[in-house]
Amino acid sequence: MINVDEIRKDFPILSQKINDKELVYLDNAATTHKPLEVLNAINNYYTEINANPHRGAHYLSVKATEKYEGAREIVREFINADNSCEVIFTKNATEALNLLAYSYGMTFINEGDEIVLSILEHHSNIIPWQRVAKAKGAIIKYMYIDKDGRIPKEEINLKITDKTKIVAISHISNAIGVINPINHIISEAHKNGAKVVLDVSQSAPHMKIDVKKLNCDFMVFSGHKMLAPMGIGVLYGRKSLLEEIPPFLSGGDMIEYVSEQNATFAELPYKFEAGTQNVEGAIGLSVAIDYIQKIGFENIKNIEEELTKYALEKMKEIPYVTIIGPKNMENRSSVISFIVEDVHPHDVASILDNYGIAIRSGHHCAQPLMKYLEVNATSRISFYFYNKKEDVDKFIEALKKVRGWLGYES
Ligand code: ALA
Repeated sequence: MINVDEIRKDFPILSQKINDKELVYLDNAATTHKPLEVLNAINNYYTEINANPHRGAHYLSVKATEKYEGAREIVREFINADNSCEVIFTKNATEALNLLAYSYGMTFINEGDEIVLSILEHHSNIIPWQRVAKAKGAIIKYMYIDKDGRIPKEEINLKITDKTKIVAISHISNAIGVINPINHIISEAHKNGAKVVLDVSQSAPHMKIDVKKLNCDFMVFSGHKMLAPMGIGVLYGRKSLLEEIPPFLSGGDMIEYVSEQNATFAELPYKFEAGTQNVEGAIGLSVAIDYIQKIGFENIKNIEEELTKYALEKMKEIPYVTIIGPKNMENRSSVISFIVEDVHPHDVASILDNYGIAIRSGHHCAQPLMKYLEVNATSRISFYFYNKKEDVDKFIEALKKVRGWLGYES
């Protein structure tokens, strides 16, 4: 078992005071903090290299290219893709999903085709498909959840049919932390000839993701939820599929040849990387991956499971707190959504902030889910491996004071 107090020394931000209290950061599903190794790598890139990759014959440009392509290879290995040309750097998971909707969806979805989503999806995995469906006359179908937030097998088998062309699904819900049965979903999709778009934004930071084992066609994630800076994300696609689809954004670096009226496009992965790329982001992501692998997914799982179990137990003891989503440890991640009776989730978050505790409240960019659950919003805590049991204790202690702040009985 690793020593969390030692790890926390790599994250100076965690020892700062908020409202005179030591920060308790429980908003890791929104974004994670960055270790010194990542921050130093970005600083070194700018102090020692800083040049435009793929564009110069000079020393620094060659170095920048090496670093950028080296980062791509580290990502390839991390997700176990066959070829680094299957790894496309994007701004974030949202941009990667938009790329797929416009490049793949607009090309291959036709009138009457069905796109299957789950009701758990983040807006970024809904709206791009809505726009494709509207433009092409396609139909969006949703797989709904049971009272614990889980998608039943019958629902999957009912919604995915031979009319389905795309199944776009999150591995883990950012809003309620449930782990979706993606193996069954992927196999049903393929049985019916549909392609699968998997959003692993909430799982890649916490567990080993292997595109070959998962057998998904496309996959997306954001770097900032896994210790990397904001502004870097990844799209993985099978080479044969990426080769079939047109570019998304156009401009520099994605071309082969341009004439006055026409252009031909570069090969993979450059066809999808128009404009000067986020080199420091890619480097930051590669160093973040190295850091995560040094900690080890087994240790990450053990730390997060212990914290989640403990927090669930303590929260369930409070009579006016309701957990939204899985109430036990089965098929759940370290994201816990909840409601405090009589208190708006935004008030819960503001009151906890007085105690130096950072949580998220709102609809979590999942309004269709909130409507389905018949709530306007929830409060949400989410752990990462640098959290400790004392964080849970401080959160529970403050949570018990929330109703008192508004004049209700605690
Ligand atoms: N998608 C991020 C979250 O769930 C922003 O908070």
